[in-house]
Amino acid sequence: MKVQDLFNVTGKITIVTGGASGIGYACAEVMADNGAIVTLMDIDPAGLEKAAAKLKASGAQVFTEVVDVTKKETIKRAFESVAKRHGKIEVVFANAGISGGPGFLNAEDKRDPSRAIENLPEDLWDRVMATNLGSVFKTIQIATPYLKENGGGKIVVTSSVSAFKIEQYVGTIYVASKAGVAQLLRQAALELAAYNIQVNALAPGPCVTNIGGGRLQDKAAQDFFATKHPNHRMATTDDMQGAALYLASPASRHVTGEHIIIDGGFSLGLAD
Ligand SMILES: NC(=O)c1ccc[n+]([C@@H]2O[C@H](COP(=O)([O-])OP(=O)(O)OC[C@H]3O[C@@H](n4cnc5c(N)ncnc54)[C@H](O)[C@@H]3O)[C@@H](O)[C@H]2O)c1
Repeated sequence: MKVQDLFNVTGKITIVTGGASGIGYACAEVMADNGAIVTLMDIDPAGLEKAAAKLKASGAQVFTEVVDVTKKETIKRAFESVAKRHGKIEVVFANAGISGGPGFLNAEDKRDPSRAIENLPEDLWDRVMATNLGSVFKTIQIATPYLKENGGGKIVVTSSVSAFKIEQYVGTIYVASKAGVAQLLRQAALELAAYNIQVNALAPGPCVTNIGGGRLQDKAAQDFFATKHPNHRMATTDDMQGAALYLASPASRHVTGEHIIIDGGFSLGLAD
């Protein structure tokens, strides 16, 4: 097969949650740049408009829907609106998520008492679980009937290396939420394989985005995480685009329940 057929997403009706920023925006961009018709869904209306304008400037067909992925009704309404506009939904990126704050060690490798497990607030648990895990469940639930109706489709979840790798510098609740995401998508992949629906995940390592109030935009934070990578740098969002396109395209048609770890070797450890 030719590369242009393997990775052909032309005209694919695509949804990206959390598409106004960061990794979601990068997924939307690679889909739009390759001819997909993309709807960005996000809780941030101003961010949505800015992101859509940027994508439209290169000629893409892009639409927006304001959605809070913790609220099933808002996701449902937005999916209905996409289906009404385009007649179907074929590719769904369940990407929206938030940070759970820093880990129990700070950048000086000292314990931060405010991040000790006994001091983590319960409302943070509820918020992170609802946004990172509950939202993926709700999005898959709402997407599935549309994909079944097409005779197949793609769900690409943004998981994390934190689903597998225990991390001192990443919030405990976040790590737990992503571990839940990993098993949820494998279970969904098993159930939906017979319907020709593939459910896979991007598993980024630390990546420069606006997550956590933009703390990873900080040069000091980037330098710190660079020292934890064997390739001596943090990811940027365009590092996610190859795997995003692969998982959304015919090239991955016999792949399901899988994570693609995109971390420059971060989870392998350090070399020199
Ligand atoms: N940046 C990293 O280091 C990293 C690493 C691994 C995984 N991830 C995951 O990548 C995904 C995207 O995060 P990012 O790093 O691009 O962050 P980001 O903050 O740049 O983008 C997240 C987007 O999600 C939106 N969002 C947040 N809560 C929402 C809600 N309730 N409803 C709808 N939209 C909502 C935000 O408005 C924002 O536009 C998340 O699932 C995150 O956990 C990030």
